[in-house]
Amino acid sequence: KILILDFGSQYTQLIARRIREIGVYCEIYSYDCSAEEIKNFAPKGIILSGGPDSVTGDDTPRAPQSVFESGIPVLGICYGMQTITEQLGGKVETSNHREFGYAQIRARGHSKLLTGIEDHLSPEGFGLLDVWMSHGDRVTQLPDGFKLIASSDGAPIAGIAHEERDFYGLQFHPEVTHTKQGTRILSRFVLDICGCDALWTTSHIAEDNIKAVREKVGTDQVILGLSGGVDSSVVAALLHKAIDQQLTCVFVDTGLLRLHEGDQVMATFAQHMGVKVIRVDAEQRYLHALQGVTDPEQKRKIIGGLFIDIFDEEAGKLSNAKWLAQGTIYPDVIESAGSKSGKAHLIKSHHNVGGLPENMTLKLVEPLRDLFKDEVRKLGLELGLPADMVFRHPFPGPGLGVRILGEVKKEFADLLRKADAIFIEELYRHDLYDKVSQAFAVFLPVKSVGVMGDGRRYDYVIAIRAVETIDFMTARWAHLPYEFLDLISRRIINEVAGISRVTYDISGKPPATIEWE
Ligand code: XMP
Repeated sequence: KILILDFGSQYTQLIARRIREIGVYCEIYSYDCSAEEIKNFAPKGIILSGGPDSVTGDDTPRAPQSVFESGIPVLGICYGMQTITEQLGGKVETSNHREFGYAQIRARGHSKLLTGIEDHLSPEGFGLLDVWMSHGDRVTQLPDGFKLIASSDGAPIAGIAHEERDFYGLQFHPEVTHTKQGTRILSRFVLDICGCDALWTTSHIAEDNIKAVREKVGTDQVILGLSGGVDSSVVAALLHKAIDQQLTCVFVDTGLLRLHEGDQVMATFAQHMGVKVIRVDAEQRYLHALQGVTDPEQKRKIIGGLFIDIFDEEAGKLSNAKWLAQGTIYPDVIESAGSKSGKAHLIKSHHNVGGLPENMTLKLVEPLRDLFKDEVRKLGLELGLPADMVFRHPFPGPGLGVRILGEVKKEFADLLRKADAIFIEELYRHDLYDKVSQAFAVFLPVKSVGVMGDGRRYDYVIAIRAVETIDFMTARWAHLPYEFLDLISRRIINEVAGISRVTYDISGKPPATIEWE
């Protein structure tokens, strides 16, 4: 396995994902972790990430000295290479020749890391690589014992190697897809130089996890809040394989789910897979609690709070449950624990519930804690979950509660469900569902005038939203074809009695958010 020391680069998670895609397990620790922690992790290689600081500044991060004394291969990327240089006796300077974006690298001499990997050959027969750069500082003097292995126009020293000790540095970012040979370079490091085996495959992950869960919970009973979302669904499938009838899922039908969603969840898990699922029909309770409430944050609190109450009631009935299973995944762990994985055993403020009861006596089992979303999806498929469930767009915990603007009423939820189902059905039919990151309908509780046949209509408005995004922090509205939007509008107005107007949301995030509330 490989250890990645994080110096704060926006790409650190990408490095981890690439290494795992290559088939090698890796984890991210903060750059200031202790020698002891590194030793306990027992990596076969260490990667130092990029970072926003300058090694020329005072008090900027450095790699623990033990990294260079352990005899383990080290690869420094961008800031990582600069700190290697600085710590091992070379020189880094802040340059006014900054490089951001595409650059071409010339291979220099022979190196274990780069030789034979190239996009083009220069007329003189040097390997040329198209890479992604993002740096202000640059190395100006090699550290002792190092040789130059690559140059670019902006960085004459763009790659360095100390081959006897297997220390390498790259100024460019092999982890981003713009560096076309990036995965090959990282493979070269982790497989050939570090000698890792590519064993981190989906069937391995499944087997390992099943074994680990069995060891952890023994013969105890486990309870899981199943939402129908990807993470909790994969946990359910995994635990079912691991401990079968020791697992009880609680599925709360809030009345704020999508069309037929409750029945689909029950069909997949209870009917097909034989998972024990308690379905709690809580529509009336939710509608009652939300009556007269219009403030979005208050609605969220009520929906989340009620979920906890109901979950608690059900858990109380299963007096012998000792464990609570959760769908926490690796990005949640990294984000909340400041990347020192394994240290703080945090409880994810569950996206569906916004916090668990404080007096909870259940112990936590979180089998997806080490996995990225794409690994969770692959695992779901491996465990036999249907592809449309595994590749479903995200759905907010408060459900339609935040897609019905203002007060939530059953009448509104029913109209919204129908409109949303038409939109999603057509996205699938036109092969557009997977091309957008998230798509849904929003109910606007305002009436507008329309005319249908000879009659005047005075009905509600539906807004359609579809966005493209990588991380959901920023998003652009999807440029769906006009003919497609036309079809959606006509179908919704014709088929959903009570809706007389459809609009398409053309706001980006920022400044708008993806959801309307
Ligand atoms: P926004 O609206 O903040 O949404 O741009 C970003 C992503 O988060 C989802 N979202 C939520 N998910 N509970 C959730 O579990 C919530 O209260 C919530 N609000 C927004 C949203 O669907 C989008 O994917």
